[in-house]
Amino acid sequence: MQKKRIAVLFGGKSSEHEVSRVSASYVISQIPRDKYDVITIGISKKGKWFLYSGPTENIADGSWENDPGNKLAFIAPAPRVGGMIVLDDDSYRIVKLDAVFPVLHGKNGEDGTIQGVLELAEIPYVGCGVLASADCMDKIVTNIIFEHAGIDQAKFTWFYTYDYNRDPDKYIEEAERELGYPMFVKPANAGSSVGISKAANREQFIAAVEKAAAEDRRILVEESIIGKEVECAVLGNDEPFASVPGQIAPAAEFYDYDAKYNNADSKLFIPAQISEELMEKVRSTAKKAYRALDCTGLSRVDFFVTDDGRVLLNEINTLPGFTSISMYPKLMAACDIKGSSLIEKLIELAFERADKNV
Ligand SMILES: Nc1ncnc2c1ncn2[C@@H]1O[C@H](COP(=O)(O)OP(=O)(O)O)[C@@H](O)[C@H]1O
Ligand SMILES: [Mg+2]
Repeated sequence: MQKKRIAVLFGGKSSEHEVSRVSASYVISQIPRDKYDVITIGISKKGKWFLYSGPTENIADGSWENDPGNKLAFIAPAPRVGGMIVLDDDSYRIVKLDAVFPVLHGKNGEDGTIQGVLELAEIPYVGCGVLASADCMDKIVTNIIFEHAGIDQAKFTWFYTYDYNRDPDKYIEEAERELGYPMFVKPANAGSSVGISKAANREQFIAAVEKAAAEDRRILVEESIIGKEVECAVLGNDEPFASVPGQIAPAAEFYDYDAKYNNADSKLFIPAQISEELMEKVRSTAKKAYRALDCTGLSRVDFFVTDDGRVLLNEINTLPGFTSISMYPKLMAACDIKGSSLIEKLIELAFERADKNV
């Protein structure tokens, strides 16, 4: 049987460009070569696409960008191309692709945009489709859907910055009345804690809104939950599997960008330090949320579990961190779905979804 050709996309314009490079290095190292040929497409921070054929070791640290063999390339939205157009001075060539693994986090990668291009191109791809990707990227939309699905979560309010700027007191008073300090103020769309702050009083609230408004035109405000941060890895299409839950113990006051990626004191516990009963509740709620948002392929579903036994959904990450030390692959490994068998399963799920053409 002829090997299928898989393109791994990495980098991108998002604030999580660096993490994506490390995730991609891990994913590339785990793709079984007896079944798949791998090609890599690096996207610079400015959004330029390159076919990169150099060593995988140069992806994580960003030195791939200086490789003299890099060729400008892009995935053509026209299905008849069937893949990628690679530019070579004044000529071009077509590289057919059987599937794409977008190892891109955040904006342009996890939000349905790249998924839209791949839909147009009719190329199967790993992970969630356009709608689930876009919905899960938007914290206001997900909260509204969870509310409708009867899934417990932090109390919240939300507003447009445009409206807030015209009458801040109205929105401040609403949040104070409904939620009370301290509160979390977040831009609707942003990854890796960028633009998120905890506000303990009115002055901090105003500053927090200003910070969040730099990232988005819609702002979410949530009551502050005191509890353990518990995460569950979900894998599958129509009958998703939910992993044993794990727990993060942030080194900082909350799990901000630095605590996530730079601070070695942030620890993971697998399994999470909660009762069997709460584990089961986390797993079943993770699957319920996954299906409520039409997720496919994979997602990491994040919760708060309080000491009085409440399981509150925080968010769904459709392309969670995928480095060798990331929660998603570690949770799957704890369920005996390890390394390359996980990657193979994800690629198979991509073909399964495309075959059904739904
Ligand atoms: N309502 C909340 N109550 C308590 N802590 C929160 C709340 N919302 C967010 N946090 C803290 O902030 C971190 C980042 O928020 P999150 O909504 O997960 O954004 P991101 O998409 O950046 O991961 C969480 O991991 C948690 O530590
Ligand atoms: Mg989070």
